[in-house]
This record gives sequence, structure tokens and C-alpha cells, in this order.
Amino acid sequence: MTDLLILVVLLLLPLHSEGLLSTYNYTQKLDHSDPHSITFQQNVMLNDNQWAGAKSGAPIFVLVGGVKDGPETIDDYGLLKLCAIKFQALLVYIEHRFHGESIPLGSIESAMSDYRVRKFLTTEQALKDSVTIIQSLKVNLSAHNSPIIVVGIGYGGALAVWLRLRYPEIAIGALASSTQLLYYGKNTPGNGYCTTVSNDFKAVDPICYETIRRSWKAIDNYKVYLNGLARLSQIFNTCRPLQSTWEVKKWLAQLFSEAAQSEDPTNMAITFICSQISTTKNLIKALAATLHNELNDGRKCSDYILVQVDSPFEPDSNYTTASAWLRCNELIFPVGCEHDTMLPAKPFHMAQFTRSCHKRFGEVLQPSSHINFYGNYNMVEALIKFGGNIIFSNGLKDPSSNGGILKDLSETIVAITTINGSQYWDMKQLKYDDPEWLKNKRDEELEVFKQWIKQYQHNNNKSSLVACCLFICFVLEFLVFYILCM
Ligand SMILES: *[C@@H]1O[C@H](CO)[C@@H](O)[C@H](O)[C@H]1NC(C)=O
Ligand SMILES: *[C@@H]1O[C@H](CO)[C@@H](O)[C@H](O)[C@H]1NC(C)=O
Ligand SMILES: *[C@@H]1O[C@H](CO)[C@@H](O)[C@H](O)[C@H]1NC(C)=O
Ligand SMILES: *[C@@H]1O[C@H](CO)[C@@H](O)[C@H](O)[C@H]1NC(C)=O
Repeated sequence: MTDLLILVVLLLLPLHSEGLLSTYNYTQKLDHSDPHSITFQQNVMLNDNQWAGAKSGAPIFVLVGGVKDGPETIDDYGLLKLCAIKFQALLVYIEHRFHGESIPLGSIESAMSDYRVRKFLTTEQALKDSVTIIQSLKVNLSAHNSPIIVVGIGYGGALAVWLRLRYPEIAIGALASSTQLLYYGKNTPGNGYCTTVSNDFKAVDPICYETIRRSWKAIDNYKVYLNGLARLSQIFNTCRPLQSTWEVKKWLAQLFSEAAQSEDPTNMAITFICSQISTTKNLIKALAATLHNELNDGRKCSDYILVQVDSPFEPDSNYTTASAWLRCNELIFPVGCEHDTMLPAKPFHMAQFTRSCHKRFGEVLQPSSHINFYGNYNMVEALIKFGGNIIFSNGLKDPSSNGGILKDLSETIVAITTINGSQYWDMKQLKYDDPEWLKNKRDEELEVFKQWIKQYQHNNNKSSLVACCLFICFVLEFLVFYILCM
């Protein structure tokens, strides 16, 4: 028994001498501009299964967390796993502040209810969190020659891009997967999101598309009956009596949006929904059953407040969540639906949106001030003029790709798009039966990374060569000086 223990300890030793733990907390400042700031514990995850080590200068891929749940293990993400194998890279995940375990004051309720604390939930502070951890990690691992590539998904991808723009000395490149960068500006494509949802459904099943399109009127008809809303509440088995037919319409629209976001040949979310809708003769009952099957998750009654998908039909945000605060202050998503799509009409009203934020949080920061700072109102120009080494990847089945960058902006800012891909197609887990196009597109991304790393190593070698020459010159000069003076 003790022998076994010693063996285990011996096996673990090399790991410890490198100082690598798989998941741990980093003591982070709440306010990076205040040297006396209070701190919180920020969660960091490492995976060094493939890493060739600091001495070899093998790269480090950092996944910058957004405000969606992070991975169980980092190499769950297909592209990152391939990076680890191909480049013998270290993988790092940095959880976003005020999210998951990385919460100041011990609980999200306490952190969000105190303005003096929640005002530090900004993209600016989140960027500095990542920069601080990357710098500290490089020192701890003596990984001064390991290039850093930052990667992110959705809003995390925006952080990766902003980090690359603001701190080019920290990361040699960035990849943003399904990032709606242009939605954070003001020139947003109005109807694009809802048109893509419609087109996705129409392409899979035109009858289903027509049925859904007609269903909104059928739901509204319940308003005219005596006790119509009560009847509708019963059919949809809601936890609270419905106040309006809009509630039901919003849930369904949210469900269809989610299906379109995740639609691809391997998961067929739309096919599944459409097959459910067509099985029952009674349209309303069919919709209720579909919603129930998709979202109810074993609960006794239905309360769809928990369906969180970035779409024009978001449920009223839970005021305790980090995403609601960021959404109100910086990551405004000014996207609506006009009348001519499969989804119910819901134009975006800035004034209404601002009112609901005030109601929820009282004081909010100046909307968009930080985003403005990244040049988001002229994001494309800022990228072309100041950016380099960035990949934007998007699946065009994903309705939020309408807010994405879908064309190359320069030689080194490239868009990799897939016609049949959904949201985060490149990040999904590797499967044996991944279609050829998916494998090829991931290879394209790896090829770009390879160029960045090669370029970095070339420059690095050049500068060490220069340093070496300078040193030799210095020694020679010194010798000459010494001889002459003697
Ligand atoms: C990190 O801190 C959080 C909260 O402060 C705690 O719940 C968690 O257990 C800590 N994780 C580790 C690995 O120490
Ligand atoms: C680096 O080492 C210090 C001292 O052990 C530790 O406090 C810190 O968390 C480490 N940084 C990272 C990013 O692991
Ligand atoms: C808000 O989120 C918290 C934490 O995730 C959860 O405990 C709470 O039930 C949510 N409230 C509502 C109204 O959904
Ligand atoms: C997209 O999927 C369709 C239908 O499965 C297929 O016919 C087409 O070849 C695919 N296109 C690409 C570019 O992979």
C-alpha cells in the first residue's frame, strides 16, 4: 500500500516541479487600476497533456471565457484539442469574472447587488484579468519563448480579438468563433438574424416553415375567447398563469432561434422540431408538446425564463447574472425582427431596452462607452488599420453570423466560413463521423496558426541572433580597448 503511494507520488512529482495544476484559483484584483483593490478568486484551467514544455518554446493556446458556462475539460473543444496535438501546445482556460466560480464577495447575489462591486464587471477589467494571468503564467513556467494565441467563443471571441488589438505584445494572434462583433456596434443588419432562422427552417422543411409562420395568429386567437389565456396556460402547462399570448410566442421563437443556431448535419435540431410539430393534428397542442419536450427538463410545470439564447426573443434576463449587466452596459444587442419572416415581429427599441435596464439595475454605466473605445463603431476600419493575425470563423446556418465578419479584411485578418456550419462549428467535440468539409475547414484554421507560430519563431530567432551578435561585438570591442590601453 505504501509502495503504491510512493509510486503515485513519484509519478506526480514531475508535474509538480513544473508547477502545473489542472484547475486552480488565481488571486485577482477586482479593480486593476487600484493598487489597493480587494481581490477575488479567478478560476484557471490548464491542460498540458500534449505540451512539449517551455524550453522547446511550444505555443500556449488560451481560451478566454465568456459568460456562458465553460468546459468540463479544455480539450472538449475540437479545435483546441487539434491545436494541442499538432503544436504540442499547452491549453489554458480563463473563466470570466462574475461567472462560474470566479465571483467576488463569495456569491453572485452579493456581488451584483452592490453597485461598488458590480461596476467592475466590464469588458475592460475582464481583458486585464486575462492579461495578468497570461503574464503571471509565463513567468511561473519560464515560458518566455512560448507564443500565446488567444481563442474565444461568441462574446469570449470578442474579448480575444480586443485583447489582440489592445495588447499585441501579449498574444501573437486571436481566433473568434461565431462572434457577433458587428452587433455590438450601431450599424447592425436589422432583419438578418430572423431571416436566417426562417431560411434554415425553409431549407429543411418548407411545410413546417409555413406551419410555424401561421401559428402566431392561431395563438393570438386565444385572446378572443372567454378564459382563452387560462386555457392556453393549461395547454402549455405554465407554472404561472399567462399574462399575454406574447409570452408563449416568445418562448417558441426563442426555441426556434436556438434550433437554428445549433443546426448542422450532425445534430439536425430543426428536423427534430419539425417532426414533432407535424405529428399532432392540433397545431397548438403540437407546439406545446414540442416546447415541453425541448425545454422542460423533468420539471412539473413550464417556466421558460431559463432559456438563455442570444436572440431578439431573450427572456427577461435574470438580474443576478453577469450577462444581463454586460448586456445592459456594453454588449447591447440591437437586433429585431421585422414583419416578413417566419418569426413573430419584434422590432428593437433602444429607449424601451434602456428603460428595462434602469428598472433592473437602477444606475447603469454609460451604454457603449467601452465598446466605443475599441473602435467598435468603426470596427472594420479599426481592424484593417491596426489589426493583424486574427481569424473570424462562422457557420452561415447560424443566424448570429449576420453580426459576424464574413470576408477577409486583409492578408492577416481572415474569415473562415462554412455554408453548412452552425454556431461554434469548429469548437465542437471531435467526432469520427465529422463530415469532410468540417475537417477541411478546421485544417485551414490550423494552417493559419502554423504560419503565425512560424513567423513568431523566425522573428524570435532573428532577434536572439541580433542580441548574440551585439554581445560578441561588445566582447571584441572590450578586448580591443583592453589591448590598446595596456
Ligand atoms: C476557488 O475558489 C472558489 C470560490 O472562492 C471555491 O469555491 C473553489 O473551490 C476554489 N477552487 C479551487 C480549485 O481551489
Ligand atoms: C504564479 O505563481 C504564484 C506564486 O506561486 C501564484 O500565486 C500564482 O497564482 C501563479 N500564477 C498563475 C497564473 O498560475
Ligand atoms: C437567477 O440565477 C440564479 C443563479 O443562477 C438562480 O439561483 C435563480 O433561481 C435565478 N432566478 C430566476 C428568477 O431565474
Ligand atoms: C452542404 O450540405 C448539403 C446538403 O447536405 C450538401 O449537398 C452540400 O454539398 C454541402 N455543401 C458544402 C459546401 O459542404
